[in-house]
Amino acid sequence: MYIYIMKSERIQQDIMKILSSPFLKKEDIVPILKMETKEEMEALQSLAMKVKQKEVGRVVYFRGLVEFSNVCRKNCFYCGLRKDNKAVNRFRLNEEEILHAAAFAYQNRYGSLVLQSGENQSEEHIDFVCRIVQQIKSKFDLGITLSCGEQTEETYRRFFESGAHRYLLRIETSSPQLYRKWHPDDRMHRFETRLNCLGVLKKIGFQVGSGSMVGVPFQTYEDIAGDILFLRDMEIDMMGIGPFIEHSNTPFHQLNAYSIPQAERLDVTLRMIAVLRILLKDVNIASTTAMQVLDRFGREKGFLFGANVIMPNLTPSIYRKDYQLYENKPCLDEDATQCNNCLEVRIASVGETIGYGEWGDPLHFFRRVNSSPL
Ligand code: 5AD
Ligand code: SF4
Ligand code: FES
Repeated sequence: MYIYIMKSERIQQDIMKILSSPFLKKEDIVPILKMETKEEMEALQSLAMKVKQKEVGRVVYFRGLVEFSNVCRKNCFYCGLRKDNKAVNRFRLNEEEILHAAAFAYQNRYGSLVLQSGENQSEEHIDFVCRIVQQIKSKFDLGITLSCGEQTEETYRRFFESGAHRYLLRIETSSPQLYRKWHPDDRMHRFETRLNCLGVLKKIGFQVGSGSMVGVPFQTYEDIAGDILFLRDMEIDMMGIGPFIEHSNTPFHQLNAYSIPQAERLDVTLRMIAVLRILLKDVNIASTTAMQVLDRFGREKGFLFGANVIMPNLTPSIYRKDYQLYENKPCLDEDATQCNNCLEVRIASVGETIGYGEWGDPLHFFRRVNSSPL
């Protein structure tokens, strides 16, 4: 036992030494992303937990997720909601349905709500989003996060002025070359546009979330290490990382290209979460639903590797089957109450407490804003 603890301490010290170097490079992170022995995994987990405990405490915040529209003008090669997937029934929730979900979140003391949709820049859609945000803010004390893709600066400003104070926009990959391989090569799918959006969101004053996928075709461990450094350098406040899961109605289904095998994707995601926690300390990190597809306890494991946010699904059950970015999405037949009860048990099972009634803003945001020269 003593020898075992000594060994774990030594691995933890090695990880700390690598990650605290001011000259940290992609190549230094790769060996951590590949740590696969039981001892290494446990050491990484212990270290991430120590940092989490110190920086943000062992509290999990709920963000009720409302997937309010699956209409999307894009054609990302990996996603089941892509425009060319004609097998999807396109829907948009009405105001009443969204307000009902918001009321559920409020009554169950969730601090915040995430409103997510496919990408749609129509005036009608933008007006709808602004109206909904204003209505929710006037009725409930909830923090509102939007996740509605790339928009113009003017639109982002209108969202902010309506009352949304957080925005999620995953970079998907920090490698422009890889981004090109994952998306059609046209004006609508540009890495530069996405990057620019993140800058604009920060400038407007949003708490900004971003992240990437793990195990998409053509992606290497080096690319993933690059994503970690990207999130650090962009000073992102909230992280959403998840394993890639094939969807049969997409070009990336059974593609014969290099990819981290599915059996390894959850562990790599967990290691990435741990590295982000140790490196970035006071950010919020979500334990994402895709992690649960690969392992029944995927999301619980996420908390043990440093995650501190979960997004219980509040989308009305009848629409859930039509919002499948990937296949085998859990909870398709459950409703908000069932997911709520299930998650309470899951979170308690790993010794975390739930931050009921708190917005749970990322501490990283306040440090970033207060230290900014502006
Ligand atoms: N597997 C896992 N995640 C996916 N996303 C899209 N398609 C897939 C997939 N097949 C993720 C993207 C997007 C987020 C909303 O869902 O990262 O930003
Ligand atoms: Fe649309 Fe987002 Fe899916 Fe791309 S990942 S097709 S933008 S819903
Ligand atoms: Fe939905 Fe467990 S989270 S049933």
